Order: sequence, then C-alpha cells, then structure tokens
Amino acid sequence: MTPPPDSSDPTALPEQARAVAIVPAAGRGERLGFGVPKALVPVRGTALLTHAVRGLLNAGCVRHVVVAAPPSEVESTAALLRTEGLAADVVPGGADRTESVRLALRHATKVIPDARVVLVHDAARSFTPAEVIRAVVAAVAAGAPAVVPVLPMADTVKQVDFGGTVLATPDRAALRVVQTPQGFDLDTLTRAYAEAGDSATDDAGLVEKIGIPVATVPGHAYAMKITTPFDLAIAEFILSREEAQ
Ligand code: C5P
Repeated sequence: MTPPPDSSDPTALPEQARAVAIVPAAGRGERLGFGVPKALVPVRGTALLTHAVRGLLNAGCVRHVVVAAPPSEVESTAALLRTEGLAADVVPGGADRTESVRLALRHATKVIPDARVVLVHDAARSFTPAEVIRAVVAAVAAGAPAVVPVLPMADTVKQVDFGGTVLATPDRAALRVVQTPQGFDLDTLTRAYAEAGDSATDDAGLVEKIGIPVATVPGHAYAMKITTPFDLAIAEFILSREEAQ
C-alpha cells in the first residue's frame, strides 16, 4: 500500500497536491511614484512581480503560476517573466482585484484540471520566505479548506468613529495581521467566489462569508506588503541580506 503523503513536507507532495498559485497584478496603482504599476517597481533592478513569482516557484510546492496583468500589459509581463526564466501564464485581469482573481482562477482550472490546492499571493509581498509558502500548502494538503499566514499585533489598535474619536480598544491578544499567500482547497475558493458576492479585502474574507472556517499558520516579517517608499527601502535590505547568505 502506498503510504499517505507527508503533508508536513510539502516539497515531497505528489504533483496533484502541489499548489497552483494566482498572483493578481492587474492594478494600475502607481502610489510608489515610479510611474509604473506597483508590480513592476524594481528592487535591485528586478520587478516586485518577478521576485514574487520566483519565490513561489522556488518554494518547491508550487506547480504552476498564473499572473493577472493589466489587459494592455499581458504580452510585456509574459516577456518579462520569460526573460527571467520563470514559467508562468499571464492572463488579462478584470476591473478590480476580485475579478482579476476570478479570471486567473478560471484559467488555472482550465490548464491544470486536477489542481486541488490554490494559493492567492500579493505581488507586493515579494520576499515572502519559502517556509511560509510551504506552511500554507502543507496545511491545505493536510485538510484545511482555507489557510492564512498571520502575525501577532505589535501595536494596540483602536476602533474610531468617522470623526476620529475612539470607540473601543479591541483585545490585542485576539488580533492578527494577515499576509499572503492565502491557501485554499480549490472547491472552497471556487464556491466562495461564486456565492459570496464581490466585496472582500482578502480572499479568505469571502470564504468566511460562506461560513467555512479559516485556519492560520505563522507568517513572517519578510512577507510584508510593499506599499510605501519606506517599505521599498526595507525590501532592498531584505534582498541584500538574502544575497549575502
Ligand atoms: O489597488 P489595490 O491596492 O487594491 O490592489 C491590490 C492588488 O490587486 C494589487 O496587486 C493589484 O495589482 C491587484 N489588482 C488586480 N486587478 C485590478 C486591480 C488590482 O489584480 N483590476
């Protein structure tokens, strides 16, 4: 009899249990001030998206990557990734993030019909360590329908009204900061996107809306979302440390 796969080591998983990763990068947000969409902002000469896709493929538990790019940038994004030797499909994104994930998910299920585990990953979390990606895939492979990496809150958080007056102080011990990749059993994510309507700031939020429990695994400081010039400076630091190792 074949022994069951060792889900604590996702790099040893059979092909079908390895993940298909979706990277929504179809936004045109230029808040970082480089005059290009955020996913194409360079860190040490290489686009955030390229770093993110490389991190997914190098984690050893991702079998395929699908990137959603702005419709006019599909060819250039595909060429960028190809130049870096990264095998990823690039599809046109939609009007908002949710639609981009939906379109990429549809493509993923077409090209990898036996996919069971899906990751949704922010291109802006470009330096997420392999151990986080593996922990998410391992938890889904072990039977969790939805998994998010989280960190404890370092700061106290206040709930305020529209005028900025404090309404409440939630117990910090019960709060977590959520990162990506978020991992799902394919049927769960497909159902969440079909049933939960269109609004959620993260994919796990859609799964919560349909009443399916979302598990957590430890995140990592390096999985931070790069949104400001300050974050970019930290990203340069992370990369220089990685390259020094
Ligand atoms: O604009 P916002 O910060 O909400 O975008 C979050 C993520 O969703 C970004 O990675 C962005 O590229 C992606 N996105 C997308 N398709 C859109 C809009 C945003 O894939 N139409």
